[in-house]
Amino acid sequence: MTGLRGPAQLGSAARSPGADGVPIIIDELRAVQSEQGYLPADALRMPADRLQIPLYHVQGVASFFPHFRLAPPPAVDGGVCADMTCHLPGAAALRSAVETHVNAAGHAGVVVRAASCLGQCDRAPAAAMNEAILGRLTSQSLAAHIDTAVAGGRLPGPELSPRRGPLLLDPYDGDRGRSQRRRTATAGLAALELS
Ligand code: FES
Repeated sequence: MTGLRGPAQLGSAARSPGADGVPIIIDELRAVQSEQGYLPADALRMPADRLQIPLYHVQGVASFFPHFRLAPPPAVDGGVCADMTCHLPGAAALRSAVETHVNAAGHAGVVVRAASCLGQCDRAPAAAMNEAILGRLTSQSLAAHIDTAVAGGRLPGPELSPRRGPLLLDPYDGDRGRSQRRRTATAGLAALELS
């Protein structure tokens, strides 16, 4: 039960290093995970000792947040976004296809799971692969990224340039006049509120 305790349920001892100790515990855990790749049981003692709080408080925070790993990560950890914007252009089929590819290729240590929104909705369908965030995926391109990761290759960095052209979700697409009228009406309302 201790492992299910969240920050809100942590006792006052966990908050002792400052007004709210949980962010400090999180920072400590992130540092350990960044160094070791996960949080070994022994490593949880370091933040507990340094912050002088009970070990079970640190374990409570570590087990509450999905970001923290309590076991070594797989060699290739993939997450295909399953939220609506990625689901519509075929994320489920994408995930299924790459699972088939992983099995057919005999890749060991590869996990492809469902993930929540990765902030790439305008580049759907998207997936996370180890530390990389990938967008505009097809089953072929995602399979190629998995092959690259398995071989120890470098995955592409994030796309930072804004997307050009209309968005699929643009409600005023094809009616620029309506968009302009909406801006004019909003500006008019703002002027009325100021007067
Ligand atoms: S819904 Fe998939 S990246 Fe946002």
